[in-house]
Amino acid sequence: MNDARPPRGIFITLEGGEGVGKSTQIRLLADALRQRGLEVVETREPGGTEGAEAIRALLLGGAADRWNAQAEALLFAAARADHVARVIRPALDRGAWVLCDRFIDSNRAYQAGASGLADEDIMAAHKIGSGGLMPDRTLLLTLPLNVAAERAAQRDAGRADRFGARGHSFHEAVSAAFLMLAAREPERIRIVDAADSAEAVSSRIFEALGDLLS
Ligand code: TYD
Repeated sequence: MNDARPPRGIFITLEGGEGVGKSTQIRLLADALRQRGLEVVETREPGGTEGAEAIRALLLGGAADRWNAQAEALLFAAARADHVARVIRPALDRGAWVLCDRFIDSNRAYQAGASGLADEDIMAAHKIGSGGLMPDRTLLLTLPLNVAAERAAQRDAGRADRFGARGHSFHEAVSAAFLMLAAREPERIRIVDAADSAEAVSSRIFEALGDLLS
């Protein structure tokens, strides 16, 4: 069953295009929070549970046209529903900090903004699947598209997934969609310039969480 109770912990998501450095930043943030004696759960989407990792394999592998945009959006929502029910909500209920690499805003940017579905429909599926759970704060890491593409290409060494392999205009649309979401929800979504050393970006992230840490 969905659970609409407000959780006790703090839910942070990191968002952005491919190659912006989300996983490094999650690690650095988790270390810093643990040093303050906080319980931290690091997780990612799509994935984070056995069932959601199985859905991840369906989503990221295979031919470019394996799914249409609707099926793809619902598979992401299904993976998220399992992840929220089994990992995220229980951790938040214990009072932990949950740091998640991608969440609902990726669904909105990739499947609505860049693939043409309606934002309301993505949010409706999120309500059915995950009780509409929203992050307390979302850090949107931004990097010029050519720099991010280069980093992602180095990381993936020619083996990009179904999304990474999409063209420049798709990734441009994703990036524009993320910025539009941030403009719409400036209190929750904070833009973090990621074109700097990992340490510099990490301290920007910490600043953007200042009010939640006090
Ligand atoms: P992943 O390897 O986690 O991305 P990256 O390391 O580049 O951050 O792959 C996840 C891919 O799935 C990524 O290209 C974004 C895409 N995605 C969506 O399209 N919708 C979603 O709801 C989520 C969570 C991810």
